[in-house]
Amino acid sequence: MLSARPHRWDRMRRVALCTLAAVHFAFPAGFAWADQAAAPHKAAIASAHPLASRAGQEVLEQGGNAFDAAVAISAALAVVEPSSSGLGGGGFYLLHRSADGFETMVDAREKAPSAATRDMYLDKNGEPVKGASTGGPLAAAIPGEPAAFEYLALKYGRLSLKQNLQPAIRLAREGFALNARLQAGIRYKRDALLRSPESAKVFLIKGEVPPLGTLIKQPDLAATLEVLAERGAKGFYQGSVARELVRSVIAGGGIWSMQDLANYTVVERRPLVGEYRGARIVSAAPPSSGGVALLDALNILSGVDMAHLDSATRKHWVIAAMQRVYRDRAIYLGDPDFVDVPVSLLTNPAYAAGQRASIRSDKAMPSDLLPGVSEQSGGPQTTHFSVLDREGNRVGATISVNLWLGTGYIAGHTGVLLNNTMDDFSIKPGIPNDFGLIGASANSVAANKRSLSSMTPTFVETPAGTMIIGSPGGSYIISMVLLGTLNYLEGMSAADVVKSPRYHHQYSPDEVEYEPDAFSPAEIQALQGRGHKLEVASRRWGNMQVVTWDYASGVVQAASDPRGVGEGLVY
Ligand code: DON
Repeated sequence: MLSARPHRWDRMRRVALCTLAAVHFAFPAGFAWADQAAAPHKAAIASAHPLASRAGQEVLEQGGNAFDAAVAISAALAVVEPSSSGLGGGGFYLLHRSADGFETMVDAREKAPSAATRDMYLDKNGEPVKGASTGGPLAAAIPGEPAAFEYLALKYGRLSLKQNLQPAIRLAREGFALNARLQAGIRYKRDALLRSPESAKVFLIKGEVPPLGTLIKQPDLAATLEVLAERGAKGFYQGSVARELVRSVIAGGGIWSMQDLANYTVVERRPLVGEYRGARIVSAAPPSSGGVALLDALNILSGVDMAHLDSATRKHWVIAAMQRVYRDRAIYLGDPDFVDVPVSLLTNPAYAAGQRASIRSDKAMPSDLLPGVSEQSGGPQTTHFSVLDREGNRVGATISVNLWLGTGYIAGHTGVLLNNTMDDFSIKPGIPNDFGLIGASANSVAANKRSLSSMTPTFVETPAGTMIIGSPGGSYIISMVLLGTLNYLEGMSAADVVKSPRYHHQYSPDEVEYEPDAFSPAEIQALQGRGHKLEVASRRWGNMQVVTWDYASGVVQAASDPRGVGEGLVY
């Protein structure tokens, strides 16, 4: 996976490597090699569902740009991949505008309702109430996606919100064929769907899981999308849709208010920018933990002569870097509007140098020797897509309703499936969430706060090309994006990056989980010899969507993870 294949810009990399341990290589604001390259003249989309990729293509062909396509793809995914994201969810949109190199992250993460309190998921003895932060409308935070759609279309797009929503409206009204992946999600979540009459109507037939190929129609969702298209975000956050959302949430035991919906806004955040062996890495800022962890891991590895190590030793270093950055994630990270997140410290190469000094090349360090708390995770919910348009505008977006089909609860006649993103908060110190994540007070529940996320949409730029990368997978997201970044920088194609086997260490539990083909027998022996506890994973994880653009050859690639059913389009 981390082959030492020589790279086209190897010379520059070597020069950078010599200076790296000591110097933090800073790129001027807005700097990007891509903007000095000619436009790609080709567009590319990779998303988790072929119909969503085609929705993006449709608006690009109508003269829309990558930002319009992001709206069309997200809205289509809300219809055809409701297990993973939707109008009732939220996420992060990482944008790059080719005209001036401007980069931003549109933070559309859900916010806790204003009546939320730190101990809201604990009983009178201070113990967690089972299922309270995942099960019903009480688990739902105020959605961010509809606000992001309007914001992206108005501020960065070229088409109207209404035009961008048309493919999704059509899919919701006319229906789409049930695939095996969604069918499995429906089977898994059947009990919750049965408790919500509107969900049962959409996703079950007489209470049973529908056969493959069943046309899933969502007329209520189509109507809500239409109001959004006509009235903009107000159509969702105010008026009749909002009233129906609040009515249904309260009836189901939740705590939303009309004011919470009316007050929701997205926030633009400056993406985190770092450097690894001459490559520029642009990634998600808090309330995602992904960018911080990714940049810190790369900083740790940049002081190691990876190209000249044997493969087991290289993997040992990657595992040790993962172990350290996941520890910090659990301790320091939270919503930057509520807590001081020490981003510049954690992404400073000098800090990484200290972490690197704690790593021995011949021996794994037990997590117990690194003081702190931590976590675990990841299934196939949540979704990522990557878009490049013909001018070179880019979007990497990771969006979510958290667990499979969120709460499984459709709010009244809105067709909107509610998220259970409140579970991404640390509901009590030391108590793991559904992903086994433990957090500190930085991520405790508070009114109007955003819960900490692992979603990590990222751009990787070299003098030779660019990659847009991201994946679902809970806490596994960060290690996946790290491995994907290293693989791309070693010269892998988009198809190989998404296919490549994965391994993961998240500090706690103190073990390396790996897909069956991630390590050769010799590597297993060498890693075990260093003291690593290796656990072969019972299933594969992630659903990575990657677009790459090679400036010199003009080759553009789009690849969708073979673990999923998505589609990469280049045209
Ligand atoms: O924001 C987060 O980190 C989680 N809500 C993401 C959930 C996820 O990726 C589920 N997929 N396995």
